[in-house]
Amino acid sequence: MKRIGMLTSGGDCQALNAAMRGVVKTLDNSKEEVEIYGFLDGYKGLIYGHFQMLTGRDFSGILTKGGTILGTSRTPFKTINEPDENGLNKVEAMKQNYYKLQLDCLVILGGNGTHKTANLLSQEGLNVVTLPKTIDNDLWGTDMTFGFQSAVNIATDAIDCIHTTAASHARVFIVEIMGHKVGWLPLNAGMAGGADIILIPEIPYDIDKVIDKIEERDKRGSRFTIIAVAEGAISKEDAQLSKKDYKKKQEKHEYPSVSYEIAAAIQEKTGREVRVTVPGHMQRGGSPCPYDRVFASRLGSEAGKLILDGQYGFMVGYKNREIVRVPLEDVAGKLKTLDPDATIIQEAKLLGICFGD
Ligand code: F6P
Repeated sequence: MKRIGMLTSGGDCQALNAAMRGVVKTLDNSKEEVEIYGFLDGYKGLIYGHFQMLTGRDFSGILTKGGTILGTSRTPFKTINEPDENGLNKVEAMKQNYYKLQLDCLVILGGNGTHKTANLLSQEGLNVVTLPKTIDNDLWGTDMTFGFQSAVNIATDAIDCIHTTAASHARVFIVEIMGHKVGWLPLNAGMAGGADIILIPEIPYDIDKVIDKIEERDKRGSRFTIIAVAEGAISKEDAQLSKKDYKKKQEKHEYPSVSYEIAAAIQEKTGREVRVTVPGHMQRGGSPCPYDRVFASRLGSEAGKLILDGQYGFMVGYKNREIVRVPLEDVAGKLKTLDPDATIIQEAKLLGICFGD
């Protein structure tokens, strides 16, 4: 008999349910008897002992369902060692609940912050297996996270829709794409949607270079320009600021986001009409795309295998087209950013895409 605790933490994304289903199906199809404890709303459920007993049937019919059947929340790692408002030691509370329920292991699905806490719990002696979720694709130790491809599809659809209206009006259109502090999602959706300019955090932009590109297109007779802007895009000047000064600038809330700042600068310097579209959380919503359904199921199945083998302290990842086991301590606390010299960026530049550098 194996007693498995399961939780999803951090921002949701597509294929969380598919991944959990993959784990449970693999366990159900083995000879091992299992009990599943589903902790509700992320680490909060583990801290406060909020859980539901689940069976294989609860995971049936959820392959295509977006969101997470367990609910999720953000429990910042920064404050994980601080007591809660009632003085409760959160890490001790998680350990106590784990031991009280006599769990054999925890299956934790999450992104960067989630992995820091998962690694901490593993170092505290709990058996942990994790799965890499996030639309941002910024998790170290895996070439891809689930949720990413579904979000690329949605963000690309948004750019496609803007394309038809942009072609009707002689305007500059900005589509702001999620991705937190990295450019994987904006780069891929931008290329898939045929954006003319893509601005990502890893390549600080020069607004004059952006304007040069718009004017060059104008001269060639293109009536419109589409700019895919990462929510974390940063100008060359701002990239020079200290972290503290940049934060101060952002706290002034002069613009709702970087896209509006770019739009205002283009409008002021060129007199052109600029429109901003922010698809926002749509990018995390809806049904997982077929790629993510297969990918998350494969990752889930490997996590099930790890549990059956009694192998703990790993994230199941994807490297060079293979499903792999990555030690948690190698993953925690590292961000997978895009290399500005990556071949995909060089290729995009050869296609005429401007990165504002
Ligand atoms: O990590 C996923 C993500 O959607 C990021 O792309 C974005 O920066 C952030 O989460 C938004 O967080 P929240 O849902 O807490 O507003």
